[in-house]
Amino acid sequence: MDQDSELKGKTIIITGATDGIGRALAHMTWKAGANLVLHGRNPQKLEALLKSLGEGLPGQHALTVKADFSRLQEVREMAAEIQAKVPRIDILVNNAGFYPDGRVITEDGFEECNQVNFLSPFLLTNLLQTLLIKSAPMRVINLSSIDHRFVWSNANASSKHPFYWRWVAYCRSKLDIIPFTRELAEQLKEYGITVNCIHPGIIRTKVIRFLPVSWGASVRSGAATVYRLIVDPDLADVSGEYFERYRISKPSLVAQSKRYQAALWRLSLPKLGLKQTEDGSIIQRSTTQNDQ
Ligand SMILES: NC(=O)c1ccc[n+]([C@@H]2O[C@H](COP(=O)([O-])OP(=O)(O)OC[C@H]3O[C@@H](n4cnc5c(N)ncnc54)[C@H](OP(=O)(O)O)[C@@H]3O)[C@@H](O)[C@H]2O)c1
Repeated sequence: MDQDSELKGKTIIITGATDGIGRALAHMTWKAGANLVLHGRNPQKLEALLKSLGEGLPGQHALTVKADFSRLQEVREMAAEIQAKVPRIDILVNNAGFYPDGRVITEDGFEECNQVNFLSPFLLTNLLQTLLIKSAPMRVINLSSIDHRFVWSNANASSKHPFYWRWVAYCRSKLDIIPFTRELAEQLKEYGITVNCIHPGIIRTKVIRFLPVSWGASVRSGAATVYRLIVDPDLADVSGEYFERYRISKPSLVAQSKRYQAALWRLSLPKLGLKQTEDGSIIQRSTTQNDQ
């Protein structure tokens, strides 16, 4: 292992680290000397991932946290566990996501793809707000998709409309990641926290299993695009941007809409039992408001 590793001593949280891009990113960042907090929903896969990392540098450590993002209570418990065990975070990668098999309404009352791909990372990031601010300067990286360009309305529609098109549900969840990123970037700018989102390319993982199997770039090349956002010193002050692989790109008009951004933020907080105080702090309310 390279003793002068660029991420030595840094702590990175990777959600959805048990497969695909997240798993490859875990290996890359571990090799570069980072301490890791690896999230997954499957304990066996988490254990196997931990074993596969191999021996690290002296003092380098990795821990795992389990949470099914289709259950908000597990996301809350995950946030509490991280706050109890991790003194600082240098990079948070909101990577976990999936492509739905069909319409499922979760026990929390939300369309599952909207919840796993958008609401849960929104909740997790906001519950970690105090720790992120304490850790600044730090970076938050959210996984969006070029597929956001194919839809224009919000994710709520997927649970209301009589016809469910799973591809549209997926695209909507990835659209919402962009205004979320932009809003968070604005709110956290004064603390020295950057927030960006990325389309990693069309990558051969189970997320694109609906396409012909031979299609897509390697998992490693997808992870490399995210790795670049983690380490590139030229991006230290870049925030609120949408990347398509290595380049900053203008997202769709809806994704750029300030009105949509403000509404999404305002409506998502009470759905998740969150409230924002006058000074910008996020607090947990006792009840959630599911208006879907
Ligand atoms: N592949 C692409 O072409 C592509 C393109 C654009 C954006 N993306 C985005 O990139 C991210 C990573 O996807 P990937 O392609 O690497 O897919 P992947 O190989 O299926 O990995 C997804 C990860 O998310 C986890 N996950 C799925 N559902 C979850 C749930 N309910 N609760 C907690 N964790 C859950 C998976 O856990 P398990 O291991 O238990 O399944 C896995 O660790 C996703 O956000 C995806 O939307 C991918």
